[in-house]
Amino acid sequence: MFSILAIGFALIYAIHGAPQPKADERMTLDVYYESLCPDSRNFLVTQLNPNWPTLSTFTDLRLVPFGKATFVPNAEGGWDFECQHGPEECTGNILHACGIKYSPSVTQALNFTTCLMDAPTAGQSCAESAGLDYTPIDACQNNVEGQNLVHDYGVETLNLDPTLTFVPWLIYNKVWNESNQWESLTNVTGVACNNAPANTPACLA
Ligand SMILES: *[C@@H]1O[C@H](CO)[C@@H](O)[C@H](O)[C@H]1NC(C)=O
Ligand SMILES: *[C@@H]1O[C@H](CO)[C@@H](O)[C@H](O)[C@H]1NC(C)=O
Ligand SMILES: *[C@@H]1O[C@H](CO)[C@@H](O)[C@H](O)[C@H]1NC(C)=O
Repeated sequence: MFSILAIGFALIYAIHGAPQPKADERMTLDVYYESLCPDSRNFLVTQLNPNWPTLSTFTDLRLVPFGKATFVPNAEGGWDFECQHGPEECTGNILHACGIKYSPSVTQALNFTTCLMDAPTAGQSCAESAGLDYTPIDACQNNVEGQNLVHDYGVETLNLDPTLTFVPWLIYNKVWNESNQWESLTNVTGVACNNAPANTPACLA
């Protein structure tokens, strides 16, 4: 009995070779950014969004619009924010957060937020272009719902270790790495592939 099992395992090993990394392992990328920040705009518009067709095959992306903002509770049961690039950035962060929440896919969320980077007040037309229903997004941004979403992003951002000192702040596989941070601003696919599981097809070419 034992020898039959042993031969069986030996055969399976011979046919399939040494164990390979799981094909379904994915990389995570968390992007902490601000709606009116030029460096965030450049990263989304020139790096992340154009390379997304490749990156999306192995990346679980989270967009976290808050950056270097602060908040205090307000009388409506929501939050008032102060933002690095002024009050329009705070309303922008809320619009981004509502769009992310009401996007059925992260691809649509990235399309919507990238569009807003070049047209910060074009919520309706950016939603249409991303194939999103603007009604729940608009209701969210005009309600404490949107404030609460950004507040949650704020708590997460303020708890980062190490502390966020630049925006966009880019974290692969939940660990911030200085060289990944700066290299990503001009070569996101190269950095992503350095952080991807071994034998990720999109990185073998
Ligand atoms: C969003 O997707 C639409 C439809 O695919 C496309 O026409 C548009 O250029 C995209 N916008 C961005 C900013 O990627
Ligand atoms: C950061 O990433 C680079 C390139 O992948 C690597 O060589 C380096 O060891 C990493 N640094 C730390 C502290 O993990
Ligand atoms: C991008 O990063 C990859 C992987 O580290 C590297 O091989 C490639 O040369 C880089 N490309 C540029 C333009 O820096």
